[in-house]
Amino acid sequence: MRVRFERVTKRFGSHVAADAIDLEIDAGECLVLVGPSGCGKTTVLRLLAGLESADAGRIRIGDRVVNDVPPAERDVAMVFQNYALYPHFSVFDNIAFPLRTRSVARVEIESRVIAAARRLGLDDLLERKPGQLSGGQQQRVALARALVRSPAVYLMDEPLSNLDAQLRRQMRTDLKSLQQELKTTMVYVTHDQAEAMTLGSRVAIMQRGRIVQTGPPLELYRNPSHRFVATFLGSPAMNIVAETPSIDLGVRPEDVELSRTPLGDGWREARVVVVEPMGNETIATVELDGMRVVARGGAEPIARAGDKVWMRFVRERVMYFDRVTGDRVKGATATTQNAVEDTEHN
Ligand SMILES: Nc1ncnc2c1ncn2[C@@H]1O[C@H](COP(=O)(O)OP(=O)(O)OP(=O)(O)O)[C@@H](O)[C@H]1O
Ligand SMILES: [Mg+2]
Repeated sequence: MRVRFERVTKRFGSHVAADAIDLEIDAGECLVLVGPSGCGKTTVLRLLAGLESADAGRIRIGDRVVNDVPPAERDVAMVFQNYALYPHFSVFDNIAFPLRTRSVARVEIESRVIAAARRLGLDDLLERKPGQLSGGQQQRVALARALVRSPAVYLMDEPLSNLDAQLRRQMRTDLKSLQQELKTTMVYVTHDQAEAMTLGSRVAIMQRGRIVQTGPPLELYRNPSHRFVATFLGSPAMNIVAETPSIDLGVRPEDVELSRTPLGDGWREARVVVVEPMGNETIATVELDGMRVVARGGAEPIARAGDKVWMRFVRERVMYFDRVTGDRVKGATATTQNAVEDTEHN
């Protein structure tokens, strides 16, 4: 079902946790809400679930305004950030819980619980109590408890945060394929930029209670409207260097070229500080004029720490931001870059 936030504000005392949020999530879409700790992600989910009430604005699920609808009647299934399980219930009973409270028939409960458990690799753990599970297994039980239902909307609050890197990576793919299969509207909260890039058909980036930019992940990556968005998406993060007293230059690590020899105009001498071979690529940190720049290169490192190298930014990929507001400055491109090179050559 479609979800809409219309200028929704939530305050805790004088703190504005959600500031005039406008957000539209299409039926069947997975929208990822991403941003640093404390920016208001959980608050937005809790507002949608009905666990917090909005101070201003309207929230709609489908065509219905749900501001005054109690949580149980909103037909949303939420995976909480701290995935509280019932400690005295078995895994089976934890997963079955939302079906029992909705008086689903016994045989149906059994088949749905088993299907959800199988999907999350929990079939052998159904008799255990949460205390006998690892953190990652507990988190999967919490996911299964949401998946066992067929709600109008799934709300997921960092559902993979407790898994090790490999399992997290795999669950990310599984969740995406599951969402594509179920076509249930989903709002997925994370502070992990990789999850944001890969899971959502669209991403909304939050900072201090506000949504800074919303759009398809690649569009935000390639065309950020703000320095915050530019540096939040991508790992290693976009390099930001002082260009002029009022403008910051941003360049992604993959748009920084390194060479053992200068290949023409625009190459500057730098010193390699750190080399991180990743197997499939190499991340190198170089230093020039007291600033550090991170470059992403091929599998084979071209230099070692301490070496002298030549560096160049891929000019068409460079972005500019207002130093104070962080807003993207367009049209400043070639001139400022030329200015740098002119200074170089003088
Ligand atoms: N019940 C509450 N009372 C007072 N302040 C609150 C309450 N809940 C949240 N806040 C504050 O509102 C802000 C947003 O909190 P929220 O939990 O939405 O952040 P978040 O983006 O989910 O962060 P994290 O990534 O750490 O989970 C924070 O500054 C938080 O301290
Ligand atoms: Mg949170």
